[in-house]
Amino acid sequence: MVNITACIFDLDGVIVDTAGYHFAAWKEMAKRWNIELTHAENEKLKGVSRVDSLKHILALGNINLGDDEINHYCTLKNDHYLSLIASMDESELLPNVKALLKELSDIGIKIGLGSASKNAPLIIKKTGIEHYFQAVISGSDVTNGKPHPETFSKGADNLGVLPESTIVFEDSQKGITAAKRGGFYAIGIGSPLDLKEADIVIPGFENLTFDGIVSQLNATLNK
Ligand code: BG6
Ligand code: MG
Repeated sequence: MVNITACIFDLDGVIVDTAGYHFAAWKEMAKRWNIELTHAENEKLKGVSRVDSLKHILALGNINLGDDEINHYCTLKNDHYLSLIASMDESELLPNVKALLKELSDIGIKIGLGSASKNAPLIIKKTGIEHYFQAVISGSDVTNGKPHPETFSKGADNLGVLPESTIVFEDSQKGITAAKRGGFYAIGIGSPLDLKEADIVIPGFENLTFDGIVSQLNATLNK
C-alpha cells in the first residue's frame, strides 16, 4: 500500500489544455523552414523547454541558427503562444482539476507544481488556482530540464516531502522519465501508448477522487 502525502502536478496538458496551444504555435513556426511537425515529434517536445524545443525542430530540418536568431524565434513563438492564451480563464481548466485540488487541500495532501514552462506562474494566476500550490517550480527555477528529475526533486524539497510518498502527474514522456528517475510515483495523463514508463495512465481526472487514484495505483503495483 502506498502512503501518499503530496502530489506534484505538471501544468501543460495536465491542469490546463495548453499543450494544444504550444503545438499550434510550434507547428506554425516550423512551416517557415518547411518542416511539418507531426503528432509523434510533438510528443517528444512535451515537457521540453522553449529553447530546446526550437533546437529539436530545427534539427528536424537540418537548420543551423546562431544564438541571436534562436533567441529571436523563441521570443516570436512565445508572443504567439501568449496571444493564444490571452483570454484564458478558469473555464480552460481540464475537467475535475479544480475539484481534485480542493479535495487534496481539504484532506491535507501537499500540492506542488512542476512545469518546464516559464509561463506557469502566469497561467495558474489566470485560471484562479494559484492559492492551492504550496510550491511552484517553473522553467525559470531549474538548471536541468525534464527528463532530469530536478523539477520534481526541487518541488518535493520545497514541500518538505519525500519522493516515495509523492505522486507526480504528467502528460509527457520526458516528465514521466523525470519522475521515475527521481523516485516518485508517476501517473500518466493521456494514452498508455505514449506513456509507457508510467506506473499507471489515466485519460484525465474526470470522475476521479484522490482515493480512486490511489486505489488504481495500489491495484497496479500489487499485481
Ligand atoms: C512545457 C510544455 O510544459 O513547457 C512544452 O510541455 C513547452 O511544450 C515548455 O515548450 C516551455 O514552455 P514556455 O511557456 O516556457 O515556452
Ligand atoms: Mg505537460
